Parts: sequence; C-alpha cells; structure tokens
Amino acid sequence: MTELQKVTETDAKPVRTLPDAQTVTSVKHWTDRLFSFRATRPQSLRFRSGEFVMIGLLGDNGKPLLRAYSIASPSWDEELEFYSIKVPDGPLTSKLQHIQPGDQIILRPKPVGTLVLDALLPGKRLWFLATGTGIAPFASLMRDPETYEKFDQVIMMHTTRTKAELDYGRELVESLADDPLIGEFVGDKLRYYPTTTREDSANMGRITDNLSSGKVFDDLGIPPMDKDRDRAMVCGSLAFNVDVKAVLEGFGLREGANSEPQEYVVEKAFVGDGI
Ligand code: FAD
Ligand code: A2P
Repeated sequence: MTELQKVTETDAKPVRTLPDAQTVTSVKHWTDRLFSFRATRPQSLRFRSGEFVMIGLLGDNGKPLLRAYSIASPSWDEELEFYSIKVPDGPLTSKLQHIQPGDQIILRPKPVGTLVLDALLPGKRLWFLATGTGIAPFASLMRDPETYEKFDQVIMMHTTRTKAELDYGRELVESLADDPLIGEFVGDKLRYYPTTTREDSANMGRITDNLSSGKVFDDLGIPPMDKDRDRAMVCGSLAFNVDVKAVLEGFGLREGANSEPQEYVVEKAFVGDGI
C-alpha cells in the first residue's frame, strides 16, 4: 500500500449522509395527488409482504421527519417501492413529492403490520379490499408467490373517486400475468375489481355497497363470502375500515392479528378524517 493510499483511507470522511439513508432510484407521478417511487433496499432489511416501515426526510429543523408507509414491493424484490399521496400542506409529502432519482430518503428498518398472510387462517379465497393509497400493501402481496401458494383465488377490489386514481393498481395488475418472476404463480388466480365513485367507469360504487348488495359476486360469477372459505385484508381510511368490518362480520368473518389468526385483518391507510 502506498503512503497516498494510507492517507486517503485513514483520512477519508464519509460523504454526509442521512441516518438510515437509502437512495431513490425512480419516481413516477400518476396524478397531481399520487406518485410512486423506488429506492435502494438495505441488505439487512427482511420484511413480510404487506408490512409497513417509517420513511421520511430531514425536516427544516435538521431532525428526521418520518411517516408510516406500506412497502408496495414484495419481500423478494431487490429494491423497495412506495406509493404515496401528496398532501398539499403535509409536513412530509409536500417535500417528498419533489424527490428525484439519486436523492436520499430515511428508512427505519423495522417493518411491522397486520396485513400479513400469517395473520389469517387457511382458506380458499383471499379478498384485498382497498381505497386510495390503501392498495400499497396489496401491491406487495399481489407480487408474492406465497399469496398464490396459500389461496386458490385472489380478488383485488380497489375503489377511488376517479379513474386516474386507479392507474397505479391497474398497471400493476395488468403487468403480473406476463411477469417473468411472478406470472406463473399468478396464472388465472387473480381477479381485479376496480370501481370509481365520483367519475363514470365500467364498474361503479363503494366496496361496502358492492359486497352488501352482492353485485361483485354476480359480476365475477362467484358465490358470496363464506367464513369457511373466504379471508380478507382491508386497508383504507378509518371510516372505510369501520364500514367494511361491519360488512365482513355480517358474512361471519372475525378479525385476526399476528398473535391470533382469524378470517380477516385490517390496517389504516392513513391517520386522519379528523379522528
Ligand atoms: P400528515 O400530517 O401525515 O397527514 C395530513 C392529512 O392528510 C391526514 O390527516 C389525512 O387527512 C391526509 N392523509 C394522509 N395520508 C393520506 C393518504 N395516504 N391518503 C389520503 N389522505 C391522507 N400514505 C401513503 O401515501 N402511502 C402509504 O403506503 C401509507 N402507508 C401508511 C401505513 C400506515 C400504517 C399509516 C398509519 C399511514 C400510512 N400512510 C401512507 C400515511 C402516511 O403515514 C402520511 O400520513 C402521509 O404520507 C402524509 O404525510 P404528511 O406529513 O404529508 O401529512
Ligand atoms: P365516495 O366517493 O362515495 O366517498 P377518499 O378519497 O375520500 O379517501 O375516498 C376514496 C374512496 O373510498 C372513494 O371512492 C370513497 O367513496 C370511498 N369511501 C370513502 N369512505 C368510505 C366508506 N366509509 N365506505 C366505503 N367507501 C368509502
């Protein structure tokens, strides 16, 4: 080793990085309220598809400004993907929406959450019920082979106000059949039932209404929910979660948790609604 190398190595100071820094690798804006991005994944980060982590940026005061985010990529993916709202005056997302490839984000590598396959009893059909950005954990689970190993049929119901807000989920679902890694697991097991509530589209209506009326069962040509066969995962606003729970309980399904698997599990897509 030359003197120069010795000096360089000894004196080398790391380039200033954020604590738990990861690098953004791509960003896609879907609407003026929604974007997705991918980032490097810490080698040590192990998570179960459907879990969430804390991510963020340095705030103006120099301290980490962190928020909970579902990991939208599956557990086998080399990178991490996130699907995000843009809240105009939101402390984090008013800044996060401007990230570019090469920028750094903070990621606390402690994944947690109830939307995991382990929290459900074995069953035949798995329902993913989401509004808005609540599709993020299911973007992960829809790309996990274990989902299709455990269930004969997977039904993704996603509801948004407008058609453009469905695009992230729609493109993802449409890409799965031909995906070289996951396509053979998905096969014809995944059914997609997108609806809008405030703009005309092929399928309209709230998830709660389409389940209660039986419309979704008729449209898909499948029997109604049954506690012995059906399992469900729910992710949306608090009001949505409360209303869906009542519908699922009406079909005889019970809420489970990591510690006590049952027929359905719920996670908030965000904290808000003034509650
Ligand atoms: P905040 O001060 O956090 O929120 C301001 C207000 O904006 C809230 O009171 C609420 O009314 C509204 N709001 C916040 N998030 C959303 C949202 N996602 N959809 C609609 N309205 C919202 N957000 C994501 O975009 N993607 C995710 O994958 C995601 N996963 C989450 C998982 C969990 C378990 C929880 C609890 C929250 C999750 N969130 C997610 C919400 C996220 O933590 C932040 O609230 C969001 O990024 C906005 O941050 P903010 O600091 O800009 O505004
Ligand atoms: P709606 O347009 O009838 O309110 P938001 O953008 O407000 O988070 O809503 C996202 C989607 O979730 C909208 O399509 C909205 O329908 C629907 N939604 C909101 N609250 C509920 C609820 N309590 N039950 C069922 N769907 C809901």
